[in-house]
Amino acid sequence: LLFNEESAEELEALDAVGRRLGRRAPFALRVNPDVDARTHRYISTGLKTSKFGVPFEEAVALYARAKKMKGVRAAGLDCHIGSQLTQASPMRDALTKVAGLYRELKAQKHPLAYLDVGGGLGITYADETPPSPEEYARTVLAATKDTGAQLILEPGRALVGNAGVLLTRVLYRKKTPEKQFVVVDAGMNDLIRPALYEAHHGLQPLVKRRGKAVEVDVVGPVCESTDVLAKARPLVLPQPGELYAFMSAGAYGMSMASNYNSRPRPAEVMVDGEAWRVVRERERIEDLWRGERA
Ligand SMILES: Cc1ncc(COP(=O)(O)O)c(C=O)c1O
Repeated sequence: LLFNEESAEELEALDAVGRRLGRRAPFALRVNPDVDARTHRYISTGLKTSKFGVPFEEAVALYARAKKMKGVRAAGLDCHIGSQLTQASPMRDALTKVAGLYRELKAQKHPLAYLDVGGGLGITYADETPPSPEEYARTVLAATKDTGAQLILEPGRALVGNAGVLLTRVLYRKKTPEKQFVVVDAGMNDLIRPALYEAHHGLQPLVKRRGKAVEVDVVGPVCESTDVLAKARPLVLPQPGELYAFMSAGAYGMSMASNYNSRPRPAEVMVDGEAWRVVRERERIEDLWRGERA
């Protein structure tokens, strides 16, 4: 029995498409295992209060409902409890629950073939010590053994997060009685993670200078108080014109960049050993109104 008829609405929408096309659309339900991922609240997705997934307790009833539909076919089971996980235990707890559900559904003769364990493996931005890929693999394998399922993994950030940096140039300094600010030419539209998730990105000068470090807030030129890319960082006071790199910008950097505040997005440059090439052009101001009609 479904506790909540509304949980079936998306499945019914998929069923309608399948029937219209005269096919059975393969589906996997993303279940919400109600596990605290112990990551930032804005990137946790597997708690009971999260908008993601169907409630764990409703999954069996939903798969039973789907069996009676003509336009869908159960192909797998899915979960994703959050991003930037730095501990193995929430992964183990979630996957143990989800693997148990997979076995139960198989015992009920649902033709499942794969188990999608989502993403979530964290990376080192500052001093986090996430599980290594080997430890992650061991955790996944231990929790899902004997399911016979083909595993699908989605470790996006862990693959590309530390493969990219955001280069920025210092524009101005500004000192108030309270603070020392450094204004750079990158802003929250280029790298939104600090503003959106209170995220920490390392910051490195391209040319190291000797001197005494002072505490600075590194801010962008966007008209928002949240346009702070690095807060209270000890730096040898940057000089206008110097280049800095915001580290770990390879994931959720450009993909979340926007034209907010009428700012064209930066170019993307691929570096391969000594070689480099521009793989995405810098946007021009005219690009901001391209596509508009009078
Ligand atoms: C379903 C799903 N898979 C994978 C990911 C990527 O996870 P990560 O940030 O760990 O790369 C997300 C991110 O929110 C997601 O929702």
